[in-house]
Formats: sequence, structure tokens, C-alpha cells
Amino acid sequence: MRKSGAQNSADRPCVAVVTADAVFAQSVRATFDAGAGVELQLIRGSIAQSNAASLAAATVVVLDLDPADATELALLDRLMAETAGRLPVIVITPSFDADMARRLLQMRVADFLVKPVPAIDLVRACARVVRAPAVAEAAVDADIYTFLPAVGGAGVTTLAIQTALILNGAVAQARQSTCLVDLNFQHGACADYLDLEPRLDLKEIEPRPERLDRQLLEVMLSRHASGLAVVCAPSRPAEMRTFDPDMVTRLLDLVSANFRYVVIDMPRTWFSWTDSVLLGSNRLFVVSEMTVPGVRHAKQLVAAIRDRLADAPRAQVIINRFEQPMFGSGLRKADVAQALGDDFAFAIPNNYRLVREAIDRGVPLEEVKRGNNITQQLRKLVIARPEKNSAPPAGGIVRRVAHSLAR
Ligand SMILES: Nc1ncnc2c1ncn2[C@@H]1O[C@H](COP(=O)(O)OP(=O)(O)OP(=O)(O)O)[C@@H](O)[C@H]1O
Ligand SMILES: [Mg+2]
Repeated sequence: MRKSGAQNSADRPCVAVVTADAVFAQSVRATFDAGAGVELQLIRGSIAQSNAASLAAATVVVLDLDPADATELALLDRLMAETAGRLPVIVITPSFDADMARRLLQMRVADFLVKPVPAIDLVRACARVVRAPAVAEAAVDADIYTFLPAVGGAGVTTLAIQTALILNGAVAQARQSTCLVDLNFQHGACADYLDLEPRLDLKEIEPRPERLDRQLLEVMLSRHASGLAVVCAPSRPAEMRTFDPDMVTRLLDLVSANFRYVVIDMPRTWFSWTDSVLLGSNRLFVVSEMTVPGVRHAKQLVAAIRDRLADAPRAQVIINRFEQPMFGSGLRKADVAQALGDDFAFAIPNNYRLVREAIDRGVPLEEVKRGNNITQQLRKLVIARPEKNSAPPAGGIVRRVAHSLAR
């Protein structure tokens, strides 16, 4: 084991590279010793020669290992646990296979590259990881907020977008803080409401979902001016089809591995992948309207989720476009509360002019009117925690689903 380069100085990022491969070591030295403003800590040997203490000075660690070797994989697992996500790790592997890639993602490895690794790719990967403080934050499992409609046009898209913007604003310093995922593949509206170009290309991913990695995800994200990341496919109103559940869970696993908060806009139809999404969520909101059928549908949907998915978090009903009736007729808040009981979470006020202006301009409600009544109410919802069943088992969505099936 040999260490090259001076101690990490506070103002320069330190890249620690662990490799037993002389050729790779040579290329790394040539790349980082060329005065790229980066401190290099080169550790010649295998992962067995390093641990959290020996890598304490590093800003990012590059581990050259073979994940097909069970011992090396176990050591990587241990190192990831020891560093508890504080230290971003990039793995360099001799070959690629989808199972291994999934395993590395589940371990919260920040990135992986397959040999031979061009110097520029390694530098880019390190730069990306160092620039994204949320890589470390992401080790704490993402909080997933899922919004489902009880009736059409209830306001799921509007509320999902505004919740995502609130969460994103709450951790504005981290670029990769919040991702909004539009799972309405047929009638996606998130991109339109935020005036963004939808970039999720399902045709490219579907034939080989294993190709979906961090880099590809980055390409398929749209970015709102607020920094909010949005995963949304172009609307295909004439296409009647569903997608492979594996593709959807893989997409969500990847998003939740890379963001602190994930907000999902769900379609009304129950697809083959709906169970997995609900089981993987931390908060479930059923959005409905202030009508008798609206309340009835919400109640039925909450009961259906409870019966079908005992391990899913408890669904909470939001009554959107709420208005207290001026005269005797019409539902009152007390009627809704009585009908829904504990399932009733929040009423969001009706404010059509405000919502319409925000949608037409593609901006947050707060930008149209600071301190508006809808954002204020949504903030309470984001902060409030239901008492029971709020956190699904730790791990990615795939692992959570596997956990629930194994029971
Ligand atoms: N709190 C609110 N006050 C007033 N208008 C609202 C409110 N929330 C949503 N709207 C309006 O209701 C309409 C439907 O909203 P939205 O598209 O968010 O619903 P949705 O449930 O996603 O609909 P879909 O079933 O088409 O997906 C929009 O015109 C939106 O401007
Ligand atoms: Mg919608």
C-alpha cells in the first residue's frame, strides 16, 4: 500500500483511489497529478487495504474492484455501512452486468464506471459527485410523497407540483434535493404546468431497462428554474398501453437513490406497477373534491389500499378546492370530516385565479402570491406526520417490495 500526494488541504477536494491495477494507477496519477486542483490519495492494493479511517481525508473515493468477487463485494458493503453515506464512492468494475449494477445502486454507490475508463470520464464522475452534496444525503432513504386521484381533475398534478416545490425550497442548498416524477405516462401534465420540455424517453429505456443508470437519468431529467428536477414523458393521448413494472420500479429506485425527496403524480388507473409504487412510498395522499361522490370515492380508494396493501403507509385524504358553502345547501367541512373520520387529513382552499396564473406562467404559487392560502396549507401537510405506518422498510423500492412479498 502506498500513499501519494500531500495531505488534503481544506480548500482542495481529495480524490482517494484504491486500485491494485498498475495500468489504472498510472492513468489516475497522470490524470490527477496534472494539477487539476485536486488532491490525489492513491492507495495501491485492494479494498481489503482500506477502511473508513484510512479514507477519512477523502472527498470522494474511487474503488477499483470486482463485484463478482463475493469477498470484495462484502468489503464494499461494510465500507458503505461504516461511512453511512458521508463519503461518496465511485466503483470501477472490469465488466458490466445488470444484477451487479442494481446491487451497487442498492448499496448507494454514487456512480460506477466500466474499464477501460477514459480519464475524462473519471474526472467528470468525480466532479459530478463532489458537486452534489445530496449524494451523501441520499444515503438517508429518500422520502417519497405519492399523490393519487380519487376522481378525475381533483388537483393531483397541482398539489404534487406545489408540494415538490416546497420540499425543494426547504433544502435549496442541495442541487439534487427533490425530484417530481410524473407517472401519468399517457397524459403527463407536470412538464406543461411547469413550462418544461418533457425528457423521459420511455421508448429508449423499455427494451433494456438495465441501461437506465445515473447518467441516463441525468439526460432524461428536466430542470425547473427553481432547481426542481422533473421526470416526465411527453404526453401520448392516443397510446393505450402500460409499461413493464420492472422499468417503473427501476426508474423510481434510481430517483430515490439520488434525491432526498421524491414526489409522485399517479394516474387514476391501477397498473401492474401501482402496488410497488404505493408500497415504496412514505406518505400517500388521496386527492378528491368537495362533492358527495368525491368523498365516497376517496373513502373507497383508502379502503382498497388498506385491504390490498397492508404494508403500505396509511393513505390520507386531501379535499382540494375547498369552499365553505355560503348558504344551507352543500357539503360542509364537518360533513367531510365525519364521513372520512381519521382518513381526512387536509382541506386545500379553492383559489382558481392563483392556480391558473401559476400554471399559465409555469411558476410556483409562491411566486404569484407570497404567503398564499394554498401553499400555507400544503406546508402544514408536508410537516405533519401520520402516527402510524409512515415509514416503509429501509432500502430501495425493489427491496421494499421483496420484503413485503416475503411475508
Ligand atoms: N386549490 C385549487 N383551487 C382552484 N383551482 C384548482 C386548485 N387545484 C387545482 N385547481 C384547478 O383544477 C384543475 C385540475 O387540476 P389538476 O390538473 O391539478 O388535476 P388532476 O387531478 O391532476 O387532473 P387529471 O385527472 O387531469 O390528471 C386545473 O385547472 C387547476 O387549475
Ligand atoms: Mg393530473
